[in-house]
Amino acid sequence: MKSSRRKFLSTSTLAIAGSLAACRSTDAASRGLIALPPTGRVDDEEYWQLVRLQYPLTTDRVYLNTGGLGPAPYTVLDAVNTKMMSLQRLSETGHTSLDSVRPDVARFIGVQEDEIAFTRNATEGNATVASGLKLERGDEVIFESHAHPGGAMAWMVRQKEDGIKVKIFEPSADSGEENLQRIKDLVTPATRVIQVSHVTAPTGIRMPVKEIAAIARDAGAWFHVDGAQSLGMIEMDLSDIGCDSYASSGHKWLGAPHGTGILFVRRDRQDEVRPTEAGAYTNSDYELPDVFDYTDSARRYESGTRDASTVAGIHAAVQFQEQIGTDLVEERGQYLGRYLRSQVREIDGVTVISPVTAEMDSAMSTVKLANIGYRDLYRYLIQEHQLRCRIVSERGIDGLRISTHIFNTKADCDRVIEGIRQATRV
Ligand SMILES: Cc1ncc(COP(=O)(O)O)c(C=O)c1O
Repeated sequence: MKSSRRKFLSTSTLAIAGSLAACRSTDAASRGLIALPPTGRVDDEEYWQLVRLQYPLTTDRVYLNTGGLGPAPYTVLDAVNTKMMSLQRLSETGHTSLDSVRPDVARFIGVQEDEIAFTRNATEGNATVASGLKLERGDEVIFESHAHPGGAMAWMVRQKEDGIKVKIFEPSADSGEENLQRIKDLVTPATRVIQVSHVTAPTGIRMPVKEIAAIARDAGAWFHVDGAQSLGMIEMDLSDIGCDSYASSGHKWLGAPHGTGILFVRRDRQDEVRPTEAGAYTNSDYELPDVFDYTDSARRYESGTRDASTVAGIHAAVQFQEQIGTDLVEERGQYLGRYLRSQVREIDGVTVISPVTAEMDSAMSTVKLANIGYRDLYRYLIQEHQLRCRIVSERGIDGLRISTHIFNTKADCDRVIEGIRQATRV
């Protein structure tokens, strides 16, 4: 694990010494002008209330669906607005500014700047790899049965159109070792690709990605990680993991603007992933009709005009998390998740389906109640308790997923615990 990338960027524009209650009522506070103290502690609720104030997110309800879509803090929205306005004033694309953001974003995930492309979402990054790898009829791809459609569909298209074979394993929530065994059991001489969700969407299982990378290497297979649920939730060092490619959304745990994503493809293997959407910026040497070479970096996957203002938003989101400390961001989500799971497990009629071991757990908690179906539970919690969670209908899990992130507080978790307690009695 990388050492903490915490940065002490915060400079106080207003004294933090004033009472939190006073801060909360001012627009200055809600515009994120209350600087965060340079260091926070995972269990210091006053600190996390200050973090909460950095978001325009309404207080009319408690938001617990970062796994679906994460709110952006003011600093991100301001960066987008500023960039958009400056570009609109000149009517320029701002395309070169993507390159000025790239080093910081690459460093944030532990890779080189020529290894990342900016995308619109995780689906696009996953599909770039799945559609671009040069595979033949009969080649096999392994991934987990809990894969999100945004990680699975492109493979299904290749199975239908190109005759590759999709093989799936049921992920275990109990043992990382078991997951490794289930993958090994599917490997054959025809295995060309192994893919996993870093953290699975339905129940928040954290996969042993470093060990899976070793299995893929031994099998001579490409290893792709769908990181939609890990970027901004888990401190990231992709070089340590050793995957060949990784794709994520920006608009979940990272708190970047809607319609953003990052794709990493290892520099020395980029020629194995054909750009499927080619256009301006895909090429280096180019002269019609005979001369053509790819751009010498992952920029080859970024064709056409892009929205540079949302990329400025990714940059601001990265800086915001680094200001808090990426290690502390990870710790906080887990701390709240663990608290929540430990409490609801004690309630009669509640089953926690998500992992409960430190090896495999995450900031997402999926639960089931004996007395009430998952759709009714979802409706009950939002209507009666103003708790916005997410249903999990995938693979017959039929549960309710609760995401806990840095803008959530322990008081939010207590409201969920009480809401679930009351739901067991309806
Ligand atoms: C594991 C996983 N992959 C892919 C996606 C799709 O993400 P996006 O909508 O950003 O393409 C999601 C969304 O929830 C997801 O959880």
